[in-house]
Amino acid sequence: MAEELYVNAQGSKAARYQALLPQLKGLLEGEPDLVANLANLTAALKQSFDWLWVGFYLVKNEQLVLGPFQGPIACTRIAYGKGVCGTAWKEAKTQLVPDVAAFPGHIACSSDSRSEIVIPILVNQNVVAVLDIDSAQLAEFDTTDQAYLEEIAALVGKCFLSA
Ligand code: SME
Repeated sequence: MAEELYVNAQGSKAARYQALLPQLKGLLEGEPDLVANLANLTAALKQSFDWLWVGFYLVKNEQLVLGPFQGPIACTRIAYGKGVCGTAWKEAKTQLVPDVAAFPGHIACSSDSRSEIVIPILVNQNVVAVLDIDSAQLAEFDTTDQAYLEEIAALVGKCFLSA
């Protein structure tokens, strides 16, 4: 496992993800512990992009419960279908939210959040968790983020399978 993360700070968004992906695979390789892997994933994403908040909510007993994250403290439980995270869970589809104020039922864990993307983590077609990312900038996330983050979500799904 690499001890230091290389961030392609001068590169385009796509170039940053391309630099990050093989390093994420290296981080996860050979480590079976789910919490250790989710924790390092959030750190690597935060270090690469400096978003406001990056974290996981895990499906537990019919709720989403806060898991490993990087950023300010956050709400600990989210109901099915509620907020951006609960909607991603219910629809089993990525939610790309350019302006959180325009999303009906958005849950404001931090008043600094302006835009958000939530990607479901699927195992055998069931949502087991969501990856939630918040930005202090409006319209931070686009379909490039969606494509790469869904690729990362597939890696995360494998962590759940082997945990
Ligand atoms: N905004 C999310 C809640 C989680 S925080 O952003 C960390 C939502 O509406 O589901």
